[in-house]
Amino acid sequence: MTNTLTTQPLPQVELAFKPTPLQYFPRLRESWGGPHIWVKRDDLTGFGLSGNKVRKLEFHLAGAIESGCDTVITCGAYQSNHCRATALAGARLGLDVRLVLRTPDGNEPDASVANLRIDTLAGAEISYISEAQWPDRDEIMAADAAELARQGHKSWVIPQGASDKLGMWGMSLGFREFMEQAPEVIGADVAAVCHTGSSGGTTSGFGWGADRTGFSNPVVALCISEPAQNLIDRVDRIWRAGVETFGGEMPQPDLQYVDDYLCGGYGKSTDELVETMVEATRLTGLLFDVTYTGKAMYGLKNEIRKGRFDSDDHIVFWHTGGGFGAVN
Ligand SMILES: Cc1ncc(COP(=O)(O)O)c(C=O)c1O
Repeated sequence: MTNTLTTQPLPQVELAFKPTPLQYFPRLRESWGGPHIWVKRDDLTGFGLSGNKVRKLEFHLAGAIESGCDTVITCGAYQSNHCRATALAGARLGLDVRLVLRTPDGNEPDASVANLRIDTLAGAEISYISEAQWPDRDEIMAADAAELARQGHKSWVIPQGASDKLGMWGMSLGFREFMEQAPEVIGADVAAVCHTGSSGGTTSGFGWGADRTGFSNPVVALCISEPAQNLIDRVDRIWRAGVETFGGEMPQPDLQYVDDYLCGGYGKSTDELVETMVEATRLTGLLFDVTYTGKAMYGLKNEIRKGRFDSDDHIVFWHTGGGFGAVN
């Protein structure tokens, strides 16, 4: 299948349930004050609550299939949602999946729980690298692909989080989907779209999508792992690669980065964050995880407190999934 929204057809496999719902959660406003909060339910894309990752994989895995690969190699933290999504999607499509997972010391974790358990269940082959080796992850995956080539296999390597131009493209189509459903579902101007930002695929895709669909209000990236500048640099790199491949000018959306709620960095949390995450579940019936959407919800609540939004605004919180994540 090809995607006709690009200047050139891009192979895509349909993996996600789309469009994902856009739903109103009035009890958040009743309790927190501030704007009307809508949630874009990308936690419902399928593949074991794999969330936004499935949108990115539709393009990567189509690329793998089109180029005759039998194996997909990718990497992440050992509780990576992206790796779990890749393991499950690979199983669906009949592709072997090899995961290069990061642990503090490069050893296998004591307990195979949460995402790691699902990776194994889906049949992915796992190797571990340490935090010290993490900067060399691309070379490590390339070496794995070269070794497999010697054994007669062809591999498709997906970078961390599938956060490159293909992943960005998948997320930008998600933004377009939201723009198509918002007038009918929300029926009011959307004052901001808030999301969890980490490896850059989601933020670059939303920024690209906002620019290309004429959404001029803020797209807010709630950083959960690193200072905003790291994400800004990644988004810039991904956009440059996107412009080279898909054409057009560099996007200029109103992309705003908030890094006041890192809580010590990736996978780290505080009591206040956990309390807010539990509160958000009790006000919505939705599940959030400490690493990603729970931390972003914590940021959102605090930004509401600080008066970032008007009380008659309608804003969207993009739920990017991650329900099986565990603290790394
Ligand atoms: C549940 C969830 N939300 C958000 C993100 C962040 O997306 P990105 O890495 O594209 O910034 C991730 C990345 O792993 C994720 O698993």
